[in-house]
Amino acid sequence: MQRIAAVTARLYCLTAPAYETAMAPVFGPLACDLVQGTPPTPADTVLDLGTGTGFALRQAAPHARRSLGIDISLPMLRAAAAVCAAQRWPRTHLLLADAATLDALADRCADVVFSSFGLGDCPPEQALRAAARVLRPGGRLAIQEWGPYDGDDDPRLIVDETLACYMTPEAAGLREEFRSELTRPRAWEARLQDSEDYELALAEAGFVGARATECRPLTLHLSVEAFLTYMLAWASRALEVAALTEDARREFLALAHQRLQAQTDADGLLAWSPVVLRATAIRRSV
Ligand SMILES: C[S@@+](CC[C@H](N)C(=O)[O-])C[C@H]1O[C@@H](n2cnc3c(N)ncnc32)[C@H](O)[C@@H]1O
Repeated sequence: MQRIAAVTARLYCLTAPAYETAMAPVFGPLACDLVQGTPPTPADTVLDLGTGTGFALRQAAPHARRSLGIDISLPMLRAAAAVCAAQRWPRTHLLLADAATLDALADRCADVVFSSFGLGDCPPEQALRAAARVLRPGGRLAIQEWGPYDGDDDPRLIVDETLACYMTPEAAGLREEFRSELTRPRAWEARLQDSEDYELALAEAGFVGARATECRPLTLHLSVEAFLTYMLAWASRALEVAALTEDARREFLALAHQRLQAQTDADGLLAWSPVVLRATAIRRSV
C-alpha cells in the first residue's frame, strides 16, 4: 500500500465511528444524486469505489444484480456492513482493497462503476485505468469529487479559518501528520482541476463519451449544528479541537456557530450548494 493510502487509512479509521451519522446530511444526498444520474439495471454488477459506509452502494444495490463496495478502511467497511445487514439487500458485498489498483478484481467484471468522493486520495491516472480495466466494454462510469470552494463565503472555509485562530502552532504525532496531509496538494486535485482535465484523463484511461461538468448538483439545507457536526467529525479536525483548552474550545465553537449563523436563511438553515466535478464515461470497446 502506498504511503498516501496508509495516511488516508488512518484518517478514516479514526473518522469511521462518527461517519455514518455525521456525514449523512452531506454525502448521502450527493451520492444518491450521482447514482440516480446513471441508474443501474437489474442485470448490472455494480462497483462503488471508496464506498465508505456505503451511501452510493445502498442507492444502487436494490436495483442491481450484484453490488460490491470497495474501501481501504476496515472500520468504514464494518459500518457499511452494518447498514447492508440491516437492509438485508441480497447480493451486496464489501471488499477491503485499494481503488488505485483494484488488484483483487478480474478484468471486465463490472457493468457500472460509481465513486462518490472515493477517489480523491488516489493517483488519478492509475485509478481511472484500474476502473477501466474492471469495466466490461460498454460499461458505465459515474464519479464525483469536490470542486473549488466558494471564496470567503464557503462555510467549510469559515469553520477552518475560525479553528485556525485557536490552534496551537505545535502539533505532534497524528495531528502533525494530518496537518501536513491537509496542506499537501493531493495528486487528484493537482492533476484534475477542471472538466477538460477529467475528460482528457478519462479518454487516456480507456473511456469514450466522457462528459465532465463543474456543477452544483444540489442545495443542501443544513442546520448550523449539523454542518458543524459534519465538519468536526473528520478526525483531522476532531484531534485539533480535542487538543484545545476547554476555554478555547468553547470560544471556538461559539464563534464558528455565530459566523455560520450569519450565513443562514429565513428558516435558520444554511443553504449550501457545493461545487463538484462530476464525470460520466463509457468503457471503450476493444
Ligand atoms: C470522502 S469518503 C467518501 C465515502 C463514500 N463514498 C461517501 O459518499 O460517503 C472517501 C472514502 O474513500 C476511501 N478511500 C480513500 N482512498 C482509498 C483507496 N485508495 N482505495 C479505496 N478506498 C479509498 C476512504 O477510506 C473513505 O471511506
